[in-house]
Amino acid sequence: MCGIIGYIGKQKAASILIEGLKRLEYRGYDSAGLSVISREFGVETIKAVGKVANLENKINGRDIGGTAGIAHTRWATHGKPCDQNSHPHTDCRKNIFLVHNGIIENYQELKDNLVKKGHKFSSETDTEIIAHLIEEFNKKTDFKSSVLKTLKIIKGTYGLAIINKKEPDKIIVARLGSPLILGIGREEFIVASDIAAIIRHTNKVIFLEDGEMAVITPENCEIFNAKNKSINKGATELDWSLEKAEKQGFAHFMLKEIFEQPTSISDAVRGRLVVKDGLAKLGGLKDMAEKLRNIKRIVIVSCGTSYHAGLVGEYMLEEYAGLPVEVEYASEFRYRKILLNKNTAIIAISQSGETADTLAAIREGKNKGALTLGIVNTVGSTIARETDAGVYNHAGPEIGVASTKAFTSQLAIFVLLTLFLGRQRDMSLITGKRIAAEMNKIPRLIEKILKQAKAIKKITRKYTRYQNILYLGRKYNFPIALEGALKIKEISYIHAEGYPSGEMKHGPIALIDGNFPSIIIVPSDSVYEKNLSGIQELKARGGKIIAIATKGDKKIKKLTDEVIYIPKTLEMLTPLLSVVPLQLLAYYMGIQRGLDVDKPRNLAKSVTVE
Ligand code: AGP
Ligand code: GLU
Repeated sequence: MCGIIGYIGKQKAASILIEGLKRLEYRGYDSAGLSVISREFGVETIKAVGKVANLENKINGRDIGGTAGIAHTRWATHGKPCDQNSHPHTDCRKNIFLVHNGIIENYQELKDNLVKKGHKFSSETDTEIIAHLIEEFNKKTDFKSSVLKTLKIIKGTYGLAIINKKEPDKIIVARLGSPLILGIGREEFIVASDIAAIIRHTNKVIFLEDGEMAVITPENCEIFNAKNKSINKGATELDWSLEKAEKQGFAHFMLKEIFEQPTSISDAVRGRLVVKDGLAKLGGLKDMAEKLRNIKRIVIVSCGTSYHAGLVGEYMLEEYAGLPVEVEYASEFRYRKILLNKNTAIIAISQSGETADTLAAIREGKNKGALTLGIVNTVGSTIARETDAGVYNHAGPEIGVASTKAFTSQLAIFVLLTLFLGRQRDMSLITGKRIAAEMNKIPRLIEKILKQAKAIKKITRKYTRYQNILYLGRKYNFPIALEGALKIKEISYIHAEGYPSGEMKHGPIALIDGNFPSIIIVPSDSVYEKNLSGIQELKARGGKIIAIATKGDKKIKKLTDEVIYIPKTLEMLTPLLSVVPLQLLAYYMGIQRGLDVDKPRNLAKSVTVE
């Protein structure tokens, strides 16, 4: 996701655009750029890699003419962070300029067709094809019709703000899957990805819906629905503070990012899950397909939450791709005499793509001739650049130090990887289709869990006083027990341990009494009965128990003190669901203890030291 802003009115646009970008910077900070348009000066475009301050320094206080313009702060999905890939993007004749938030799934085929028609591209992004498509249509029809025709053929998600040198007194905006809000000022309009960039100018806003577009001039804003019918949408008067706006109404970035998971998981699989063929289409692995067909072993290296994602991936790849997998703490990997060769693939998982331990492990693996792959959220990051190939999460920036949406996005990528490698091997079409179809439902199932947030907050109140908690899970949910324990440690500073449920009787059960509660993940899966005996053991010692169980399981209610239900899904997909209540428990526990959940003590978002 990124930040978009557009302005049209009586004031000079450039300074308003820069100020707005600064309010949107948390949405993406790979690069920033703006285009200002006027009849007398035409269009001036300025771009800079990195933070908005770099763009501001490039402008260096120069008085840029023009009272209309668009601007963008980028979170790259296609094409590394560099000047050429920064927005606004333009067409061959430099008439159309646009900024885009989202992913165009069919950009490659559209780009190939446009190149055949003689179009020259200057970037690696998916976005740039939109400008060339509008240019193509604009040869025969007006600006608005050209945009409409373009929107009919692109697939994916977009928030768009577009200007055209041939019609300089208007901005056209359109929204499908990425937010766009119109701020209504006095003879001026501001359009932006979220309220944070608007609230300083006006509190009167119109929320565009998916499929809608608007043609904005200094005097008027006409909104059209997907059938190109002019519609009348009432404005909303907001009473948001700026701080509240940046978090889109959530109290903290961590809570916002927990609630973003239906979207971030949809984005992770968008254009990659081929349900009808039970396949995963991974562009980043295309050139490695044959090498991957011949690998005999996988070693996963990562840290912290990303390590826990690797442990879930291990179960998936072993069960459904038939590959032996080892998961190593990256910080330990380099001290091991692990046999690596050309038949070994090393997979590095990293949200930031800059974790020093993981980077060192990748370099070690490359020295030993192993194929290296990255599952990375930050496009163009060091790990993304140094691995031989990889798959980007497309989860958007994760601001909260505690990783939440990046984690479930990593799990979604492992589902895709399991399909990719499994269907190269013995996974049947039926199994592939079943997994792909169930994966498609996961965003909606997470939405059902998020609806229980208030109930989970209430449960948390009863457990805030405890100083220790034991997290338990088996098989696919053992890593989720580890992840739940890490979340509550780093957010509420409560000591917690994650353990395989089956291990409890080998020691940890000595800890259990009325002052040592447990949280057990006990979905209705292949190890359900085994988990029930674990629950009996805890009860026999007077331990309080919170269960994460499958909706409809009445038995568990009688055996435990609290139950948080998750919807039924395939056993291999339960981790994407069972982790969500644990994220919320950690968040509410931290809040109830009055802690800074977005910036926990002693921690950094990206650990670039070994
Ligand atoms: C996650 O909640 C932690 N903040 C931390 O363990 C993190 O997962 C770890 O540092 C790895 O970071 P990376 O994914 O950016 O490599
Ligand atoms: N997909 C576009 C790009 O990679 C837009 C990404 C964004 O939403 O910032 O440039």
